[in-house]
Amino acid sequence: MGLQDVKKHMNSVRRDFSDQPFDESQSDNNPFIQYAKWFNEAVKASVLDPYAACVSTVDSHGQPSSRMVYIRDIIEDSFVFYTNYNSTKAKNIKQNNLGSFTIFWGELERQIQIKGTIEKVSSEISDAYFNARPRESQLGAWASNQSSILKDRNQLIDRLNEFTKQFEGKQVTRPNHWGGYRLIPFEIEFWQGRPSRLHDRIVYRKVNNQWEKNRLSP
Ligand SMILES: Cc1cc2nc3c(=O)[nH]c(=O)nc-3n(C[C@H](O)[C@H](O)[C@H](O)COP(=O)(O)O)c2cc1C
Repeated sequence: MGLQDVKKHMNSVRRDFSDQPFDESQSDNNPFIQYAKWFNEAVKASVLDPYAACVSTVDSHGQPSSRMVYIRDIIEDSFVFYTNYNSTKAKNIKQNNLGSFTIFWGELERQIQIKGTIEKVSSEISDAYFNARPRESQLGAWASNQSSILKDRNQLIDRLNEFTKQFEGKQVTRPNHWGGYRLIPFEIEFWQGRPSRLHDRIVYRKVNNQWEKNRLSP
């Protein structure tokens, strides 16, 4: 497909959403319970990687960046993901601790947006998760200077070989430059596609430590 065909395809294919309502009475008053209900339905619908989310961060110039991560835990009303503490996203978070997740479950025609502040989890939590990872992933965390420029792929493989040798016969400990972050939400929106673009949107906002629930116009 050439670019002209891409443009034609983008322009001509139209699809309406099915009619699966999501209203105030169906939605739990606690957004985490609501998330769990929808997550369960995503698992049942065999959504690929239902724990995947696009995390957006912003640098000191206000330039946003977005990329996928895996949400690996929910602790104390926050969503946890793991990454490299020297990566671009980590540098952004250091400069500006506001961030968001966007989750799209196409099979269910659903989107969840989560906005909040991001902070590191404790080293104990990061250790526990790191220790449970496969050894290859543990060595990968040592080998990869995530988001930095590589001369070529061999440079990465050489580093992996170096660390494989270094840890031979030993437990791979968590590097200081790798660990978890948690996004503590102040807003969570559940979006359900409906026909004619008249979608259902239920948003929860934290006001005085209580979740307030409202319907948004699509
Ligand atoms: C489905 C999927 C899941 C991913 N999960 C993670 C993750 O949990 N942690 C991570 O650091 N990168 C993950 N990545 C890679 C990131 O999207 C990204 O390339 C990397 O974190 C570097 O981002 P940065 O340079 O903006 O910091 C994932 C990518 C995909 C496509």
